[in-house]
Amino acid sequence: MNLAELNKVAEAMVASGRGILAADESTGTIKKRFDTLGVESTPDNRRDYREMLFRTGDAMSKYISGVILYDETIRQAAKDGTPLVKLIEKAGSIPGIKVDKGTKPLPFCPGEVVTEGLDGLRERLVEYRGLGAKFAKWRAVIDIADGAIPSYTCIRTNTHALARYAALCQDEGIVPIVEPEVLMDGGHDIDRCYQVTEMVLKLQFEELYFQRVTLEGMVLKPNMVVPGKKSAKRASVDEVAEKTLRVLRACVPAAVPGIAFLSGGQSDEEATAHLDAMNRMGPLPWRLTFSYGRALQHAPQKAWSGKSENVAAAQRAFNHRAMMNGLAATGQWKADLERKAA
Ligand code: 13P
Repeated sequence: MNLAELNKVAEAMVASGRGILAADESTGTIKKRFDTLGVESTPDNRRDYREMLFRTGDAMSKYISGVILYDETIRQAAKDGTPLVKLIEKAGSIPGIKVDKGTKPLPFCPGEVVTEGLDGLRERLVEYRGLGAKFAKWRAVIDIADGAIPSYTCIRTNTHALARYAALCQDEGIVPIVEPEVLMDGGHDIDRCYQVTEMVLKLQFEELYFQRVTLEGMVLKPNMVVPGKKSAKRASVDEVAEKTLRVLRACVPAAVPGIAFLSGGQSDEEATAHLDAMNRMGPLPWRLTFSYGRALQHAPQKAWSGKSENVAAAQRAFNHRAMMNGLAATGQWKADLERKAA
């Protein structure tokens, strides 16, 4: 393991004013997104859509530090035969790969899941490294519900798997994105989200320590502290920013180069406003940026809707969201900028 190299990649992933595009939807998930647009989910359509994103010059070269790919995509070539990985690299961005194999029911914990994919992971990492991946992602899912959810069993098992994945990545020279996501589904309030997120992050860093993961060579991808979608008690942008920063300060060592949030079902503008507010509350011990899937892709997906004549409009929409989030990553976003674009 070359620590200096891992640290260099991790720092580049969270470089000032830049963040990560999560384009690693599994075949099932991208099909759901395409279904809402009336687009058939074929390998070529998936390739065309992603090629369009990776060819969005300004977004990719100025605001997107890295792209998380799915197994199919890392092997695909653009229409002109250029591997998609090369398009990303040419734009000055870093290719990465989702390596978890999704969730399965967790025994004796009804309603809860564990993320699988450790078996054979070392061999898969070696292959992905050969295909150009410099970093990887593994997502664990922690739900909040009435009663005993989340259970200690669920948090312990998932954070342990994440730490084992992270250690394997580093041993193979790949920077792990560690993503223990506390879901925002459900009716819980923001303080319950705080409490669960705190426990998840405390256990996560304990597990990383026991697996001997080098914090300087990883990126944390957490949820923000927000009320559940069905909660009647909404929270202001400042409350989300303050509570999220408080829990991160309490749980995430300063040795971690950066924290790149997931959007998790927030609206595009909420995800941007929250990130911006946090960056205004600095100085912070780590870089704070985005690793958004939905909040970067909603707008371009809708604009594209599977039609080649819409590519330019979709690229404009992607450029815009990438720029808004790039500004938020340094606390320089303004709501006016959204209105002007609309
Ligand atoms: P969202 O931003 O849509 O939550 O996706 C981020 C991600 O990579 C989830 O694993």
